[in-house]
Parts: sequence; structure tokens; C-alpha cells
Amino acid sequence: MERTLIIIKPDGVQRGLVGEVIKRFEQRGLRIAGLKLMQIPRELAEEHYAEHKGKSFYESTVNYITSAPVVVMCLEGPNAIAAARQTMGATRPTEAAPGSIRADFGLDISRNIVHGSDSPATAEREIALYFKPEELISYQRSSDVWLKE
Ligand code: TYD
Ligand code: MG
Repeated sequence: MERTLIIIKPDGVQRGLVGEVIKRFEQRGLRIAGLKLMQIPRELAEEHYAEHKGKSFYESTVNYITSAPVVVMCLEGPNAIAAARQTMGATRPTEAAPGSIRADFGLDISRNIVHGSDSPATAEREIALYFKPEELISYQRSSDVWLKE
């Protein structure tokens, strides 16, 4: 069982795609362990994107993610990190697989609708940035037995 951190970015919220994006992760089989609407403070965004500090897109990416409310989720399931990244699609919407969120709803890398952790270490770090342990709930759904042997 893995956990991953997903953010529906300001463009996703502003464009009314919250339900659509959650639907796609939910229908994939991922289980919502934590969910909230928030506006990300600059300090938190800088920590989140620390790996990109100094790159040309760092400042604009921090400005964008802090510009309006986002929906933050912790999703869990077997292979949650890779499954969520596949459901999101590649970073650049024009390179994302057809049927993925970024391909179906995005045009430009600077407005790609959704964030997802890229590795187990990143997921652990990012979940801790956005959720206190008591905000995450572990539970079973009756459908979970039909998602994995
Ligand atoms: P990155 O971690 O490389 O992509 P991903 O979100 O798929 O993990 O980059 C973080 C975000 O920074 C990306 O979602 C959009 C933005 N970005 C740009 O605006 N321009 C770029 O050239 C890159 C690489 C990223
Ligand atoms: Mg990344």
C-alpha cells in the first residue's frame, strides 16, 4: 500500500475541474485518505518546490501555486504513486498521454492542473508538508478487495 500527495492546482479549481479530477483518481481505485481546500502560503510553496530553486520556472511556479485556492489530497492504494502519475500524464500537456488529465484539460506546462508526488521519498515528504498525521484516515472500503489480489 502506498500513499501519494495530489494537488489540484489553482487553474483546476478556477476552471471547475475539482470533481472531474477527483473522479478520475477515484475511478482508478485510489482511496481518499485526506482532503482539503486551502490557499498555499508562499513559505510552504517554496519548501514544496525546493528541488527546483534556481531554475528559470521556479519563481513563476511558486507565484502560480500560491495565487488562488487549491485542493490537496492524500490518496492511497497499491502502486498509488505511479498510478496517480499515469492518470495525471506527463508534465508538459502536449506530451501527456491522451486520456490523461493534463492532456485532456491542459495546453501549457505552466498551467498543468494537477501535482502528484514522483517517488516514495517525495510522497512521504510532501504528505508531511500538507497534512498532520491526525488529518489522515486509514479505512477500508468494501470495494478494496476487488482492486488487488
Ligand atoms: P516537475 O517536478 O518537473 O514536474 P511534475 O509536476 O510533473 O512533477 O515541475 C514542477 C512544476 O513546475 C510543473 O508541474 C510545472 C512547472 N514547470 C514549468 O513551468 N516549466 C518547466 O519547464 C518545468 C520542468 C516545470
Ligand atoms: Mg515534480
